[in-house]
Amino acid sequence: MKTISISTLNAMKENDEKFAVLTAYDYTFSRLIESSSIEVSLVGDSLGNVIQGCDSTIPVTVDEMAYHTAAVKRGNKRSLLVSDMPFMSYSTEVNALDNAAVIMQAGAQMVKLEGGEWLADTVYLLTERGIPVCGHVGLTPQSVHKLGGYKVQGKDDHAADQMIKEALILEEAGADLMVVECVPSSLGDDLSAALNIPVIGIGAGPGTDGQVLVLQDMLGISQRLPKFSKDFLKESNSIQDAITAFGNEVRSGTFPAPEHSFK
Ligand code: KIV
Repeated sequence: MKTISISTLNAMKENDEKFAVLTAYDYTFSRLIESSSIEVSLVGDSLGNVIQGCDSTIPVTVDEMAYHTAAVKRGNKRSLLVSDMPFMSYSTEVNALDNAAVIMQAGAQMVKLEGGEWLADTVYLLTERGIPVCGHVGLTPQSVHKLGGYKVQGKDDHAADQMIKEALILEEAGADLMVVECVPSSLGDDLSAALNIPVIGIGAGPGTDGQVLVLQDMLGISQRLPKFSKDFLKESNSIQDAITAFGNEVRSGTFPAPEHSFK
């Protein structure tokens, strides 16, 4: 079983090969994700929504992230395991270091932080100390109240240029991966071209290096299916087949289709 590392994803970007990312929160689904050959498993703080039934990710704690990370780790030894740092757990450099250590010791191989330029020093500090970082730009759900709702970001030229500039600053600070959420497809393309590190899109069009979905969304069992997601279980005989189909459609470039993307 060949394990996936950041070097694998860098080589895939270099060779223009797409890769698939799925959220996971527990041992059983984590095993299915491993056996479906999904490259990256993300313990998202979306667990606040889909596991805990909260209306945002804000209530999620570091201890909860560590608990779910450990469960996911036990189910999957192959995929790269990235875990979210939850709301306010990286608001200062000191708490970022302490909380990232807890999440890494629970089994994560990389932590994900939401935000732009203001995070540059934190990204530098973490990566210098051997903690790989995935950035997250565009729609950043931990800032939902500041953003005024779950809305498409980077719609005008100024906002799009600013997002690319801030993502480049995070790359320069040491970020290894970048998630971009809910932006026009053209901005997903431009970010992927501008950054040397692999860019993972969710609602960012087909041009990003990787694609991520929330597990419950791609199985069609969420309360509301976002426009950018697809119910893969509808066309499959089992959960395992649906997860495998997601990976195959991402790698072949058939997902996301135009109806899953924003203009
Ligand atoms: O929390 C999460 O699941 C995420 C993905 C949707 C990118 O951040």
